[in-house]
Amino acid sequence: MFVSIGCCVTKRPPVFKLCQRALYLTAGGNLANHRISNYEVYFNKAAKRTRAPVLRSLQKYIGTDLLFLAGGNPNTATFPLAAAQLRLRMLQIREWLTELQRRLHDPPTLPPPGVSSSANSDMITITTNGCTEAFSKILGMVLEEGDSLLVEEATYPSIFNVTEPLGCKPAAVKNDAHGIIPSDLSKVLSSWVEATSGPRPKLLYCVPNGGNPTGANLTLERRKEVYALARKFDLLIIEDDPYHMLQYSRPLLPSLLSMDVDGRVLRCDTVSKLMSAGARLGYVSGPKQFLDRIVDLREGVSGGGSILTETIMMKVFQNMGYDGYIEHGCRVADFYHQRSQVASRTAEKYLKGLAEWSAPQAGMFLWMKLLGVEDSRPVCQKLIQKGAVVVQGHIFCPVSVNSPYIRVSFSYASEADLDKTFSWLAEILKEQPEQ
Ligand SMILES: Cc1ncc(COP(=O)(O)O)c(C=O)c1O
Repeated sequence: MFVSIGCCVTKRPPVFKLCQRALYLTAGGNLANHRISNYEVYFNKAAKRTRAPVLRSLQKYIGTDLLFLAGGNPNTATFPLAAAQLRLRMLQIREWLTELQRRLHDPPTLPPPGVSSSANSDMITITTNGCTEAFSKILGMVLEEGDSLLVEEATYPSIFNVTEPLGCKPAAVKNDAHGIIPSDLSKVLSSWVEATSGPRPKLLYCVPNGGNPTGANLTLERRKEVYALARKFDLLIIEDDPYHMLQYSRPLLPSLLSMDVDGRVLRCDTVSKLMSAGARLGYVSGPKQFLDRIVDLREGVSGGGSILTETIMMKVFQNMGYDGYIEHGCRVADFYHQRSQVASRTAEKYLKGLAEWSAPQAGMFLWMKLLGVEDSRPVCQKLIQKGAVVVQGHIFCPVSVNSPYIRVSFSYASEADLDKTFSWLAEILKEQPEQ
């Protein structure tokens, strides 16, 4: 006879478990009947703090009869690659992307063409598995347990999937329809008390264009102020900019990288929104010493990036050329701009006086404040019962608070979908008791 391993291992350290397993084996037990039922016992603190991405909980509605306006997926009709026949050969994607960055951002720390980067702060570009891996690696390298990360008060929630396991707190900075508010950033930093709040933040995470969820672009004036504050308070900036080319107006707003004379900006780009979401290819541009360490970490821990993906994407980039890539960006931006106008028009038709929103300036999201609503969760639940899924605002908040906001994705939603969704929402809001 042997005691059940499954029910008694969870509170004991692995060494006990291994002894038990040895005992079990010598007792001639049948391992097939004793599959491990709980792996918590193996996990370190960081893994225990890891939680599933909140947005994933809404994915169960995909493929149902509900209208799904909750996804962050770019519309694949805008992707350039429909079919391909490739003869693969190693190509230098880093060089191509570095030159793209020169043309788009003219970074002050990038050495002239033909001169290789040598100083620690010289800009280089490396590839990653999307923006997500880029900011995860950067945060993982900089933040210690107990540190704070400066974020906008409505921000891309995947960032919390990284900070929580690390034992770090977000420090929220106010934002509005024009992005992060520099005067609040200054206030947060100048009133920081280490004795109560822990070490002064070293890092600011911001999405300067098409904020997810806000759809906001940081104005030029604010970009300059944010950069000046980063210099004053000696911050590094993660410029997470997947929607750069999806700005609805041209000329494109200058990136923080383009202003970065010190080498304090780590700019994250991706092909996810413009070329292929499934390719999982991103690129980070920033100081050589910093990014070399990420390359070491990636190669040491996960074997580096996928050469196959990089080679395929390189071939696509080469076929498009720099001008073709930039023109493609304009076409995709127009596509989303038109959709955003339909979304705003339809919202206007049904939700005037019931909700407030600002016209998005890039990307694929409408961020709406439901008037007279303290917490949008019950409203979102009622909307699901009527037939549409949108994202409840609280998941974008760094601190756990009720939020009256919802995020509506218009990437795939047709005019008819938006019409139904906003008319149902209006019905629900009209039935709401005063809060
Ligand atoms: C602000 C922001 N950062 C990063 C990502 C993910 O980018 P990637 O697919 O390159 O990991 C998204 C996608 O929704 C996003 O909105």
